[in-house]
Amino acid sequence: MAEPTPNDSTYSRFQRRFRLAVNTGGGDAPGLNAVIRAVVMSALNLGWEVVGIRQGYDGLLNGDGIVTLDEASVQGITHLGGTILGTTNRGNPLRYPEEQPDGSVKIVDRSDEIVQAFRDRHIDALVAIGGDGSLHIASQLSARGLPVVGVPKTIDNDLAATAVTFGFHTAVQTATEAIDKLHSTAQSHERIMVVELMGRHTGWIALFAGVTGTADAILIPETPYDLKKVAEHLRRKYQRGPRYAIVVVAEGAKPKGGEVSLRPGETPGNGQRYGGLAERVGQELEELTGFQTRSLVLGHLQRGGQPTAYDRLLALRFGSAAVDVVERGDFGCMVALDPPDVKAVPLEEAIRDLKRVSMDGDVVRTARHLGISFGD
Ligand code: F6P
Repeated sequence: MAEPTPNDSTYSRFQRRFRLAVNTGGGDAPGLNAVIRAVVMSALNLGWEVVGIRQGYDGLLNGDGIVTLDEASVQGITHLGGTILGTTNRGNPLRYPEEQPDGSVKIVDRSDEIVQAFRDRHIDALVAIGGDGSLHIASQLSARGLPVVGVPKTIDNDLAATAVTFGFHTAVQTATEAIDKLHSTAQSHERIMVVELMGRHTGWIALFAGVTGTADAILIPETPYDLKKVAEHLRRKYQRGPRYAIVVVAEGAKPKGGEVSLRPGETPGNGQRYGGLAERVGQELEELTGFQTRSLVLGHLQRGGQPTAYDRLLALRFGSAAVDVVERGDFGCMVALDPPDVKAVPLEEAIRDLKRVSMDGDVVRTARHLGISFGD
């Protein structure tokens, strides 16, 4: 992947090819590389040029992070986790921390600079792959005149405008396999094993992996929990046998009348990082039940590894659809799965609502039928 220079013949003022840029922002998710490949191949098929911006928008702001993407550079990447372009979930260009001459840090809006940098590089349109934060940035850049098409990505599956995001299926698969492995220790030692899963403000990963991994209790942000109820549920299970239990907690769950658990030093608010819930729930359950308890955090293992076939296909479909949308000139939109089709929805609408687990939905109902407690 070589850096294009303004002297390339393709930069000729009067006769140059349509130049499409692609970037990945926010936390990585399995399937990002599949989207990149589909965007590049679809665009090359139309005779366009494609460039990748490294590390979100940083590559553009620092001036040295634009790479040409050709067929060879996207060969053999569909099955790879992560992103060949790199990503960041810090350094929002709309609120960029800029160091001042006196050493202090000032928050500045660099969006106009970004739009100008796209123009200077003769970039005609951008496919921005990201979660709600990155899509919000894309929407703001679109409002400032940048032709943008968004591609939704997040393992959390929390975007209301799309039926599902790629990365979620892989995260659930990884979490389920991890829970499967916990059963042996739980059973052998007659322990309660508490496992904390990702998902930020929603409980999709915890719910799906908890049900498929045969959890006894699942605690999710959508319904505050009462640990006394969970403890009673587990005591009854121990009486009936088998004498062990699996408790799945979504990192963003909170007790009735209480607060969420944040990482030490984290300030509450948008972008807050969760942490510590499994430990807290584990200790309290041990006190309430008297049963030996251990806790663990699955963490970033949920974001890593090869995307499942389902996520690969969804990611490839999103990448291909995004180029169709660019070709139609339908800018300011995001591609979204509206089964059985992939459609384009306005970016503003796409980032408006968080998709939460419905406590009246059939997966929660299935869980309750299976005897799983939500502590509510
Ligand atoms: O949004 C994806 C996600 O993995 C969340 O589930 C999690 O809360 C967060 O990102 C972790 O972010 P970081 O990688 O910055 O720790």
